[in-house]
Amino acid sequence: MQIDHDIQKRIKEKLSGKIFETITAVADEMQLECYVIGGYVRDLLLFRPSKDIDVVAIGRGIDLAEGVAKRLGRVSLSVFKNFGTAQIKYKDTEIEFVGARKESYQRDSRKPIIEDGTLEDDQNRRDFTFNALAICLNKDRFGELLDPFGGLEDMANLIIRTPLNPDITFSDDPLRMMRAIRFSSQLGFDIEPNTFDAIFRNKERIKIISEERIIDELNKIVLSPKPSVGLLQLDKTGLLEIIFPELVALKGAETKDGVGHKDNFYHTLAVLDNIAKKTNDLWLRWAAILHDIAKPVTKRFDKKLGWTFHNHNFIGEKMIPGIFRRMKLPLNEKMKYVQKMVTLHMRPQVLVDEDITDSAVRRLLFEAGDDIEDLMTLCEADITSKNQEKIRRYLINFEIVRQKLREIEEKDHIRNFQPPIKGEEIMEIFNLPPGKDVGRLKSSIKDAILDGAIPNEYNAAYQYLIEKAKKMGIEPKKG
Ligand code: CTP
Repeated sequence: MQIDHDIQKRIKEKLSGKIFETITAVADEMQLECYVIGGYVRDLLLFRPSKDIDVVAIGRGIDLAEGVAKRLGRVSLSVFKNFGTAQIKYKDTEIEFVGARKESYQRDSRKPIIEDGTLEDDQNRRDFTFNALAICLNKDRFGELLDPFGGLEDMANLIIRTPLNPDITFSDDPLRMMRAIRFSSQLGFDIEPNTFDAIFRNKERIKIISEERIIDELNKIVLSPKPSVGLLQLDKTGLLEIIFPELVALKGAETKDGVGHKDNFYHTLAVLDNIAKKTNDLWLRWAAILHDIAKPVTKRFDKKLGWTFHNHNFIGEKMIPGIFRRMKLPLNEKMKYVQKMVTLHMRPQVLVDEDITDSAVRRLLFEAGDDIEDLMTLCEADITSKNQEKIRRYLINFEIVRQKLREIEEKDHIRNFQPPIKGEEIMEIFNLPPGKDVGRLKSSIKDAILDGAIPNEYNAAYQYLIEKAKKMGIEPKKG
């Protein structure tokens, strides 16, 4: 393919500056051929920002890194002798140096046998044509683009394709199947049909890849502009069934006695795409993925009510730790947040359907706390009806809920509310040991405030507590 003037100009522009000047000078002095390769070249040509530079030397990459580090001064250099690589951190840029290599793989492992190789060997072992592009950094050929597999043309046509036979590329390193789909979702590229079919054929090989690496790619899909693009391809290739069977279980729309229910898989993807338009927050996106995850296990058909999914929010909340543990997602406050969103995801809707009473709004504010805005965003994203009139009505109702939430919060400050009398004080007032009575008295104060029976103030809570205790036959201690 003809490399046009604009591309040459862009290459020259992006490869100017101290880092590349230094690499060129040191490599030429050492008489080492060297290239910038992989993601940096791809992103440069796609006008995407990139901070990681991969440099391949035809010879010892570590020697080049050491020379460059010395010349740049004030850098941190890490050498990984066993891997034949070295990394320099210079300001906010990371530069990785490696010698060109040839790799051969065995069937049951991700670990290849590595030998020194030519630039071509090195390009052959890469995942996609656009990731095999290399640009020479030596002075006499500076800026020369080496594109043995038509990566530039594939990029122009928005195509993802492996440089070699895709069965070999994917079998060598099955993580690349996830990477193909991730790039497709991130960049809006299509996977070339042969490459796509090879993912289908090799899908079982994903099982030799660690969950940590798989979740890394899956999260990049979840964070892409329209995550359904990646998730639908994961489903079509059969990878999703292997890595995330709970999501696939949402598929299908059954009909009984002429009553149907929606396909919860496609609904979930639509909710996720809706959320993706509103936020880049990974965990709110995960809440969208998991909000209906318990629908398959709670599904019943009732002659009067039709299809029901009773308590799917609570059961869903309980399924989350198992899913997070298996997928190596964090088991910390991020997971708790996702659980909270899943448990509460129907509450604003219930408010609309029943009555938007002050006490129901207060309870919701109390349970959602600072995450109330996120919860409302999730609920709005959950409306995936095709009926525009219905959507309009829902959105108006949610606006009323939001309005009410604002009013109540301004009036009662419930968001991060702590009952004004704590358990220890109750024990002290009544000379009670820790136990059920203390718990009951404590929650009765909370309920009275949330129900609006008393204001959120100490004196009112104290009076209420004394009366409530009296009814339970408990008197304050004397003196
Ligand atoms: N690579 C590969 N097979 C993999 C991973 C990486 O062939 N399973 C090659 C590709 O040439 C890739 C380069 O190594 O461009 C660098 O990989 P990495 O830094 O993981 O990814 P990038 O392609 O830079 O993309 P991103 O930064 O978006 O992860």
